[in-house]
Amino acid sequence: MIYFIGAGPGDPDLITVKGAKLLARADVVIYAGSLVNPALLELCKPDARIYNSAGMNLEEVLEVMFQSRSEDKMVARVHTGDPSIYGAIQEQMDALARKGIEFTVIPGVSSFFAAAAAIPHELTLPNVTQTVILTRLEGRTPVPPGEKLSELAGHRCTMCIFLSVSQIDRVVEELLGGAYTGKTPVMVVEKASWPDQRVISGCLENIGELVRQSGIARQALIMVGEVFGGGYSRSKLYDPGFSHGFREKNR
Ligand SMILES: C[S@@+](CC[C@H](N)C(=O)[O-])C[C@H]1O[C@@H](n2cnc3c(N)ncnc32)[C@H](O)[C@@H]1O
Repeated sequence: MIYFIGAGPGDPDLITVKGAKLLARADVVIYAGSLVNPALLELCKPDARIYNSAGMNLEEVLEVMFQSRSEDKMVARVHTGDPSIYGAIQEQMDALARKGIEFTVIPGVSSFFAAAAAIPHELTLPNVTQTVILTRLEGRTPVPPGEKLSELAGHRCTMCIFLSVSQIDRVVEELLGGAYTGKTPVMVVEKASWPDQRVISGCLENIGELVRQSGIARQALIMVGEVFGGGYSRSKLYDPGFSHGFREKNR
């Protein structure tokens, strides 16, 4: 069996229990070394064959998987955060499926959850927004029409922007081209959950300068939206005057 495992955002304790158990049993481990915390490799068997995919192309990764499968070895393919977000796992899963090789995906804690915890802040607030958009600036990977940051910013919801901090000025320009203003709050979280995590707080009109001063250029999320600003309504979930399936309202 081949397991795609979410490693979590960095803190080795933030891999799931299931992911950790499987990693400890794997004969072959292929991990995304550019972002996965190498401390997780301490969970592996002493004789596990370990590959860092940062220096490998897709064909080389697949070759290791096919070879391991032919030797009846268990493979852990370890991706940062949750594998379904910018993980490039679809092409791997499709190649395995074409060969009739079974695989299972074990979800992980995505970095945007770790970033929200680091701030710390809720991303959805009553009367502010009930929507979170996960997106990125267009780079070498094109962004389809209708998904430009300026268009998404028209919703004025919370946005978690991956893979874009090195182009913070372009991000700001696009967001201001939508429905945000210079005063819209922005948080930049670098290395969420790592010991050297950093959180920078500002607004669209000064975040570019703050990011430049900090030297943050990678492994960071840009979190933007009015949720980080202050006012909101109390939630209905714990409102004494509101009943739901698990609780009667107070009379
Ligand atoms: C290729 S994507 C992988 C995302 C990953 N699958 C996830 O669920 O978090 C890499 C981007 O995720 C973000 N990222 C990953 N780990 C992070 C962390 N610990 N703190 C902040 N951002 C992180 C950064 O924007 C980085 O450029």
